Amino acid sequence: MPQQLLTILNNSDQVVKNHGQDVVRGLTNTLKSLPPKYFYDDRGSELFEQICELPEYYLTRTETSILKQYADEITQITGSCELVELGSGSSSKTQLLLDAYQKIDGSFKYLPTDVSGGILETSVLQLQEKYPGFSIEGIIGTYEETLVQLESTPAPSRTICFLGSSAGNFTPSEFDCFLNQVAKALVPRNYFLLGIDLQKPKEILEPAYNDSKGVTAAFNLNILSHLNWRFKGNFDLNLFTHQAIYNQARTQIEMYLYCQGNVTVSLDTLDLKVSFDAGESIQTGISRKFDLAVIQTKLEEKGLRTKKIWTDSQQWFGLILCQADF
Ligand code: TRP
Repeated sequence: MPQQLLTILNNSDQVVKNHGQDVVRGLTNTLKSLPPKYFYDDRGSELFEQICELPEYYLTRTETSILKQYADEITQITGSCELVELGSGSSSKTQLLLDAYQKIDGSFKYLPTDVSGGILETSVLQLQEKYPGFSIEGIIGTYEETLVQLESTPAPSRTICFLGSSAGNFTPSEFDCFLNQVAKALVPRNYFLLGIDLQKPKEILEPAYNDSKGVTAAFNLNILSHLNWRFKGNFDLNLFTHQAIYNQARTQIEMYLYCQGNVTVSLDTLDLKVSFDAGESIQTGISRKFDLAVIQTKLEEKGLRTKKIWTDSQQWFGLILCQADF
């Protein structure tokens, strides 16, 4: 019997379900912004995979090196489990963990989850072929939908993993809510594996988000094509330019699209008209850079007790394994 490939949570995606009210809110704010989940249509997910390969984008490479070195140690601590990955994309880094789980006894289940159905379907098909002994099933849904689903299906040997420093794409208050949802999706002794980008000089950070080939610019601009398609909009991509800056006070990268002229954009499905002045920007995302001790305290506050931390030789990136202790 072939395995089930994908589950679509709530039978419709969240982006459509909330009718884009989050887009309306963001674009009618004095300082315009957009929720970062709109980066990930199929094209956006593809561009993000290209970002991960860029020489300036040290994150993926560094996290991969940590996983390469410590995957066996991680899997020995958690033991065979139900591994749920939030925002799995192509799952390429996670394969280092899957290879390590193959070496230990017990029944192992991998549940990659993503808002982008296209990339998830492709990767689940490949993974089922590569790891025939594992039960593998993709879940299409937002983090929130997935965590609500997990809460209603507790598992004694669950590990939730959240790699790529996606945790840094939340504001501090969003991150707090997110951790509450994660804690609710775990039962005592379950694990949470978190990959986070650490603070480092601006000279390394800014090029990582302003690469010389312009892939990050294309990724950032693609959010507007996604809105044009999804909400019948007429953003002219030629009028907007990408820029990422490091905000030292907030220790975060801020990604912007700057409008080059005075223009009014309509999003027909949302019944929305938005005027831009020349020089005005939309903040499309942030990427916070963490301090290990601070984040450890934050996790502890939620009953997520640090078991072990791994970093690379330059201390650029950290992997934290915590265990639910409520
Ligand atoms: N998580 C990655 C990072 O922080 C990529 C990313 C996702 C991102 N959304 C973003 C980066 C928004 C900047 C802004 O680098």
